[in-house]
Amino acid sequence: MSFLSVADAGPEGLGRLVELSMDLKRDPDRHRGVLAGKSVGLFFEKPSLRTWVSSTAAAALLGAHPIPIHQQSSGVGTREEPADVARVLDGYLDVLGMRVFEHSLLEEMDAHMEAPVVNLLSDWEHPCQAVADMVTIAEQRSLAGSSLAYVGDGNNVCHSLMLAGTMAGMEVRVGCPPGYRPDAGVVSRAREWGTVLIFDHPAPAVEGANAVYTDVWTSMGQEGEAAERLSAFEGFTVDAALMERAHPDAVFMHCLPAYRGEEVTAEVLESPRSVVFDQAENRLHSFAALLLDLLPA
Ligand code: CP
Ligand code: NVA
Repeated sequence: MSFLSVADAGPEGLGRLVELSMDLKRDPDRHRGVLAGKSVGLFFEKPSLRTWVSSTAAAALLGAHPIPIHQQSSGVGTREEPADVARVLDGYLDVLGMRVFEHSLLEEMDAHMEAPVVNLLSDWEHPCQAVADMVTIAEQRSLAGSSLAYVGDGNNVCHSLMLAGTMAGMEVRVGCPPGYRPDAGVVSRAREWGTVLIFDHPAPAVEGANAVYTDVWTSMGQEGEAAERLSAFEGFTVDAALMERAHPDAVFMHCLPAYRGEEVTAEVLESPRSVVFDQAENRLHSFAALLLDLLPA
């Protein structure tokens, strides 16, 4: 089974991944080296810090061999047809992680491989991040019955959060400018599992929420729209006044990298409510959990 969308795990699978991630965090030694002899290809078309390093470290912890595959040398789609690259890599790898501009490239590769393909971020979803985010919330409170407010761009991170949040039994509320709403199809999919509310302003989304989440206003690949986006998202900065509207115990979340003064103030990012570095750390444990789930030892 591949992991192109967090929905691919299903509610039970997601619950299992969260439990396993927490177990790996508590006791990494129990799983150390269990995937010895396996090969994990890691392909990146876009920059990355957390995903690159955490996936490499997770593979190393489990004894699998991480193999970086650079777009410049592999030339997927430029030097060679993706379908050919997929069939070649299938002969070498046990799993292939890919960070891509276009989600359709993941689907094309997956269609031509037996080995599972993992979405390390596409223009459509960021499912590995969403698993780490569920782990981070579960460390604070029970997921089921909690509410998660997402403020800002209805982007890849927002899509995966809506799906993961509802699968985990959370109410998800999105506050975004009307021109930057999440995809209606993804909203409908998430609504099959739970409640998703969409607001045109941040305040009603955040009211009483247990977690307040934001992401950059300009994602990788959208740099040409940066100025237009800066003005479209005016009023959507997560600041102390907005956090005051959330539940008194609410945490602040961000997948990082963050742009202080744009989607979040430095004050909120650095506040005791901020769990952004727990989220970043949990990328390691949750990627290890995903590898264990995808690769029979
Ligand atoms: N959050 C996240 O995916 O970070 P990177 O882009 O640094 O991998
Ligand atoms: N939405 C952001 C997430 C970065 C981790 C992007 O796609 O650039």
